[in-house]
Amino acid sequence: MAILNHNVEVLADKSALIERSRDIILDRIQTAIDSRGQFTIALSGGSTPKPLYEALSAQSLPWSKIHIFWGDERYVPATHQDSNQLMARQAWINKIEIPASNIHPMNTTGGDPQQDAEQHEVELRQFFQTTAEIPSFDLILLGMGDDGHTASLFPHTEALTVGDRLITVGNKDGQPRLTFTVPLINQARCVLFVVAGTNKRPALKQVFATQGDDAQYPSRLIQPQGELIWLLDQAAGGEL
Ligand code: 6PG
Repeated sequence: MAILNHNVEVLADKSALIERSRDIILDRIQTAIDSRGQFTIALSGGSTPKPLYEALSAQSLPWSKIHIFWGDERYVPATHQDSNQLMARQAWINKIEIPASNIHPMNTTGGDPQQDAEQHEVELRQFFQTTAEIPSFDLILLGMGDDGHTASLFPHTEALTVGDRLITVGNKDGQPRLTFTVPLINQARCVLFVVAGTNKRPALKQVFATQGDDAQYPSRLIQPQGELIWLLDQAAGGEL
């Protein structure tokens, strides 16, 4: 599938990328709260978004109207150094006055990733009060690995083909992860990719190519019904 309705911005450097990402998120927060009284965001993990989370922690926002989820999580305790939840709490959440009930992490300590995935799906459906439809997040923040994966949707894994669930078990080199599925991500009002670094160039070329292998470059599968925005720094997007 060629990525069609995407909007790609290449920013001069990492700090400009983070500032632009912050500003887009702040704008979507305002829009969502003005029109629906709340804002729902799913965070990405990895290293790129850490300064973005720090920038957001410096904002004075109606935090009680903002609900924070994660688009994927490593199957480790929330105290583990690899935990996406831990990173976001340290960089952002621990620094703001936000009700604990507004934070919706994936549970990764049940011992059975599939069961924990199903449990989080129940929690999502309860929050969005939907039993059948796929809920729409206001904004899903995504990164992209140098292999073209996003969230925990890794190349040639089963997770890529899951079409009837919201949450599934991803697999990175045999390590389980919990992840939003492609249908859930594609139901978002806005999907915002934030990608930095020259090591991402080869995968970006494949992701944006008209013809390409979606199973090899899973970020190609992200074609939301809402907005799709790709923010790249010059290092990542310079040759596109
Ligand atoms: C994760 C992320 C993952 C990440 C990419 C990019 O759990 O690791 O959700 O999809 O966004 O791997 O990671 P970097 O930002 O560290 O390059």
